[in-house]
Amino acid sequence: MSMRMLVTGGAGFIGSNFIRLALAEGDIGRLVNLDKLTYAGNLKSLADIEEDDRYCFIQGDIADGDLVEKLFAEHGIDTVVHFAAESHVDRSIVGPGEFVRTNVVGTFTLLDAARKAWADGTASTRRCRFLHVSTDEVYGSLGETGYFTEQTPYDPRSPYSASKAGSDHLASAWFHTYGLPVLITNCSNNYGPFQFPEKLIPLIINNARSGKDLPVYGDGKNVRDWLYVDDHCRAILRVLAAGEPGQTYNIGGNSEKQNIEVVTTICDLLDKKLGLLDGRPRRELIRFVKDRAGHDRRYAIDAGKIRRELGWQPRVRFEEGIEMTIDWYLNHQDWLDAVLDGSYQDYYRQMYHGR
Ligand code: NAD
Ligand code: DAU
Repeated sequence: MSMRMLVTGGAGFIGSNFIRLALAEGDIGRLVNLDKLTYAGNLKSLADIEEDDRYCFIQGDIADGDLVEKLFAEHGIDTVVHFAAESHVDRSIVGPGEFVRTNVVGTFTLLDAARKAWADGTASTRRCRFLHVSTDEVYGSLGETGYFTEQTPYDPRSPYSASKAGSDHLASAWFHTYGLPVLITNCSNNYGPFQFPEKLIPLIINNARSGKDLPVYGDGKNVRDWLYVDDHCRAILRVLAAGEPGQTYNIGGNSEKQNIEVVTTICDLLDKKLGLLDGRPRRELIRFVKDRAGHDRRYAIDAGKIRRELGWQPRVRFEEGIEMTIDWYLNHQDWLDAVLDGSYQDYYRQMYHGR
């Protein structure tokens, strides 16, 4: 039977990529996208699918219990893919309250609405799934060696990762206590089309293209494990199809890079594609700036479980993915102009001025 799916946060980066893939390749009868349209959400990211008869958009807050319960009832939802969150670590340091409200209270609201909706007998007649999308940051920070596995103890360090860890614990509790068919995925750093340009890769592409400074925190040697967004979305479809309720699946790109390596790669590719800037290589724009408070040193995922049990592995290598991403941003100035409004300029000044 086709899925009747509620996607939360579908106007954001990963959510919009997921909706496009799910409508193209998933067995979808109905797909309801619930998104508050914060600064990070933009319907321009979904312009090409909005006419699809199976799709509908609802602007609203995941922490609004009445609205969420109504959506379950009206659309006969049997599958939830929960992306909606405040997602940016730097913003969580200057304003943690919204992270607790959306990531913790919002997730509780959704879990409880699913519990009530599926307790009415839905789950006995249809296959129900609640997939909670989370992050590798809940595991804390690694030294030079080692990997995060599904058994690594939680050790979140930032307000963002602490709020995501809280939401993971709630999701897990709703499985153990109420039998809600919950699946949790913990993924590494994503990159690709439609990522809001506050995050490292699109920020550097956008600044380097136009000759602005390239801010690198600390010594630039922090390590992230990069995964092309389409690979993350395919992993989620796979977990929905074959994952076992109550289980956690780590998702990663097996592609560790120091930040400085990512930044110089982008500079060199832009020099090649656009030519030097006033005769100078873009690497000269790099500025080492004040470090992020509590900056986690290294993340690296062991994605062995999802590979062995569900047969998923990444398709896109970083070298291909970064080039596709740069080309996408160079060809979508209209999207960038639409998302880089006045509030972003205020954010940028506050975050980087005098850093
Ligand atoms: P994003 O910031 O690009 O998008 C978040 C979306 O959620 C936006 O469309 C926003 O409008 C919406 N939203 C925020 N608060 C809401 C609320 N109260 N009610 C309804 N909608 C709300 O985030 P993203 O990078 O696409 O991340 C999506 C999910 O994946 C998050 O849960 C994040 O923790 C997780 N994740 C992200 C990454 C990554 O590298 N970006 C990696 C692992 C996990
Ligand atoms: O690991 C998964 C997480 O990846 C997700 O859960 C988060 O939602 C997502 O935002 C991302 O978190 P990071 O903090 O790793 O991503 P960000 O793009 O903000 O930063 C990547 C690295 O680059 C990090 O070490 C900080 C550094 N950085 C970031 C910015 C914005 C800089 O050096 N300069 C910058 O201007």
